[in-house]
Amino acid sequence: MTVSLLVDNIGELVTNDPAIGAGSRLGLLEDAAVVVEGHRVAWVGRRAEAPAADASVDAAGAAVVPGFVDSHSHLVFAGDRAQEFAARMEGRAYSAGGIQTTVAATRHASDDELAANLARLVAEMARQGTTTVEVKSGYGLTVADETRSLAIAAQVTSETTYLGAHVVPPEYADEPAAYVDLVTGPMLTAAAPHARWVDVFCERGAFDAEQARAVLRAGQAAGLQARIHANQLGHGPGIEVACEVGAASADHCTFATADDLANLAAAGVAATLLPGVEFSTRSPYPDARAMLAAGVTVALATDCNPGSSYTSSMPLCIALAVREMAMTPAEALWSATAGGAAALRRDDVGRLAVGAPADFMVLAAPSYVHLAYRPGVPLVGAVYRRGQRLS
Ligand code: NIG
Ligand code: FE
Repeated sequence: MTVSLLVDNIGELVTNDPAIGAGSRLGLLEDAAVVVEGHRVAWVGRRAEAPAADASVDAAGAAVVPGFVDSHSHLVFAGDRAQEFAARMEGRAYSAGGIQTTVAATRHASDDELAANLARLVAEMARQGTTTVEVKSGYGLTVADETRSLAIAAQVTSETTYLGAHVVPPEYADEPAAYVDLVTGPMLTAAAPHARWVDVFCERGAFDAEQARAVLRAGQAAGLQARIHANQLGHGPGIEVACEVGAASADHCTFATADDLANLAAAGVAATLLPGVEFSTRSPYPDARAMLAAGVTVALATDCNPGSSYTSSMPLCIALAVREMAMTPAEALWSATAGGAAALRRDDVGRLAVGAPADFMVLAAPSYVHLAYRPGVPLVGAVYRRGQRLS
């Protein structure tokens, strides 16, 4: 028999269901309740009308919001790069080259070490309200190391991304074309069974448009769906490639022209913004307002990785998006939940509607606005994933 749980006395409920509330995108409901049956949402509405349930919890007037969907992270790695960060804070610039430091450490690590570090970071995310996470490979860069990275990632999420084309590893420095052949050939064949997505770092110092196109097309031919690291460190062709291949998302988009934004909107490619990167590399933030004005679907994610953004915190990303990128608190929360789901082409997660997985958190605050209003404060209380209390 399925056990039901009534989450009662919710002061402010965010459903992301525009059919609920006054037509706002967040689908807000005051004095609300939610009933969970098994791992799904069974009922959403005014608390006065809530049906009986086997058990209940009292939200005591707090806000309840959908679990965060962190649609961009690199969690399979060993070591850290704190010294690189410290040097950056003394004025050194971020470059794609630092990735090699983590590649060397990752290749040396055992499967158990990689799995333990991954589990640590996923638990850290869960405590901060993340209930769906995408995880990339990309610090192995050999057939065996990319394949094991994805197999390890697949133990914690179905949103696994093959990023063999992160950078050209040192042993291929003189023959990048041969590395692209490996990534689109034997490495793809070995990696594809463990991955849903294919990704490429399209950037000066990593892969150019032609190489990026080849990587994404090969991945698509092997049954994977495309996403891309685009326009992070300077203006480049990444967004164009994303639109051309029909990627689900172009990530970073820090240097994007008006044409790029029109392209994203027309092609239905989400822009995943990663403000932890600009924060940690002391760089200019992407122009979220221009994207929203152009009709682009905007997602927010952490990009959690040991180089450019070693934060696992979606609340921090929301606060940065609001303060530094002029998003409203409502836009930022939508982008961190439903936006992330759109960037992963998921219509089940990122919202609280009848039939959806019961992924949500109770905030130690009366409104979701506090996520940006009280930056750095641990406001995430009880977190439920698939109806189970995580923390
Ligand atoms: O998304 N841009 C490429 N990859 C990561 C950085 C990886 C690293 O520095 O280790 C990113 O920022
Ligand atoms: Fe990334």
